[in-house]
Amino acid sequence: MDDRQRYDRATAHLDPPFAVLDLEALRSNASAMLRRAGGKPIRVASKSIRSRPLLERVLAMDGFAGIMAFTLPEALWLVSTGLRDVLVAYPTTDREALTELAADPVAAREITLTIDSPEHLDLIDTVVGLGRHEIRICLDIDAGFVAFGGRFRAGAHRSPVREPDHAADLAATVAKRPGFRLVGVMAYEAQIAGLGDDRPGNPALTGAVRLVQARSRRELLVRRGRIVQAVARIADLEFVNGGGTGSIDVTAREKAVTEIAAGSGFFHPRLFDFYRGFTGRPAALFALPVVRRPAPGVVTVLGGGYHASGPPGRDRLPHPHLPQGLRYAPGEGAGEVQTPLLGPAADDLRTGDRVWFRHAKAGELCEHFAALHLVEGEEVVETVPTYRGEGRTFL
Ligand SMILES: Cc1ncc(COP(=O)(O)O)c(C=O)c1O
Repeated sequence: MDDRQRYDRATAHLDPPFAVLDLEALRSNASAMLRRAGGKPIRVASKSIRSRPLLERVLAMDGFAGIMAFTLPEALWLVSTGLRDVLVAYPTTDREALTELAADPVAAREITLTIDSPEHLDLIDTVVGLGRHEIRICLDIDAGFVAFGGRFRAGAHRSPVREPDHAADLAATVAKRPGFRLVGVMAYEAQIAGLGDDRPGNPALTGAVRLVQARSRRELLVRRGRIVQAVARIADLEFVNGGGTGSIDVTAREKAVTEIAAGSGFFHPRLFDFYRGFTGRPAALFALPVVRRPAPGVVTVLGGGYHASGPPGRDRLPHPHLPQGLRYAPGEGAGEVQTPLLGPAADDLRTGDRVWFRHAKAGELCEHFAALHLVEGEEVVETVPTYRGEGRTFL
């Protein structure tokens, strides 16, 4: 039985649209991630999962430890449900959440905030004042690649802190300030971890990406090592976090890095098909129903416009996965309430059949569905809520 038959059979009792997670594919992806990490623990990036029961499930596997959350309200919620060791990887200005953090001893012990400037410390002090529980702090370091005197830059615009001296200054500022404790350093190399280096049909782009990534790896190996050395002279670091799904193996080889952050690898969404160094199995899919057949070679499915974040382009659209051989109508793309799909495969589809899609990214899928149906073999064995399904929309 092929995957399409298996998914159709497992979900025959459900009415699309709905989302599924293939547990066997998820386990196989998780094992591959651990092999690539070579013994270093993987902190699970919650933005790429966005389902609490699923986070619990992957954290129960050996080798995964701690959560990388995307907002402080999310982290507070996760801790209130019993999850532990949550690094909020993006600065927060949420006054209500900060107030809650500073007043709750368990949250203050389990949550670490990320900062890249004394301004962040000032804001926290203004909101919560002194006489609070100590707030755990992680420094965010710019892991981008810069060349030609700054005229070329690759990587995410995150932290202004790039050089060891600057990192040491900020570390000293945190260490001196009452009410804060510096416990970690994080540097995310988006230009390596989040950028596929195997673009079929685009040799120029593939070559450029590989060149930049090779240079960036060499540069970061040295710079990250120096930064960690400089900061470790000032504070006892509990962790140095780096990488993402696309760079697990490369980042894990750096001595200075103690843990890898990764999340997308579990679902293996479409954008992760374009890496040379690893493969994965599509684990998260969503089914849309065929609702009409406007002409030979065309079917229309309900919904479908679940674009992924990032620079707008075709690669951010969901991918019609099964049956194979369907494509978007150029003038319509993935629509708000209906999506025409073209191709010979359309003629074998009847009204009420399903088309199975993959999202371009991982966790954003869960913002469109209240539940994930967990498929084992030919059966749905459990249905778990997404963040949205629990009434939580953090971003
Ligand atoms: C700080 C940080 N670490 C790691 C990741 C990698 O996450 P993933 O493995 O889901 O690509 C990201 C993704 O944006 C990130 O922002």
